[in-house]
Amino acid sequence: MKINFKKILTLGFVIFLLLQFYQPARNLDYGRVLPIHFTKTYDVPLDVKNILQTSCYDCHSNSTEYPWYSYIQPVRLFLDNHINEGKENLNFSEFGNYSERKQGNKLEEIVKQIKAEEMPLASYTMIHKNAILTQENKKVLINWIEQTRDSISSQNYMTVVQ
Ligand code: HEC
Repeated sequence: MKINFKKILTLGFVIFLLLQFYQPARNLDYGRVLPIHFTKTYDVPLDVKNILQTSCYDCHSNSTEYPWYSYIQPVRLFLDNHINEGKENLNFSEFGNYSERKQGNKLEEIVKQIKAEEMPLASYTMIHKNAILTQENKKVLINWIEQTRDSISSQNYMTVVQ
């Protein structure tokens, strides 16, 4: 059978064009910060806030800063996949909705992911160079998160003892 490359290319191009019409709703909260946001649940210092905003919120909050190429499909599908999966695992915008136990586990998980250099995702930092965590960033994040994590568990301990 003779393969008609020209037809295949044309068909591929048509599919690519049609795919551009698929532009689902974006992950945006238009500045509406919920009372269950991480920064309302805890007294988060400014430096920690800034690091999380720059390196984590695009995938772990209700507000993504979309790059220009997000308008191109199938790039958008790839980004959405990370955002949906990221939010499902950890959503800073709705952190206060987690049970105390879950909050503690997530804080622990954050420290683990940072120490293992799993987060932010490498495919993300390849383009978003400013999201790469410096040694100093890691120290600031880990110190504060571990401190917060300990204060939750000691509160729980107190309630058990009383
Ligand atoms: C490009 C998107 C993206 C960015 C940016 C990103 N993450 Fe993630 N994160 C994901 C995805 C997707 C998952 C789920 C799959 C996996 O674990 O790889 C995840 C999983 C996690 C988990 C695991 C949650 C659990 O309980 O299993 C933690 C913790 C986490 N991320 C923390 C962070 C932190 C902290 C930052 C910023 C320093 C960050 N992530 C930046 C996409 C991202």
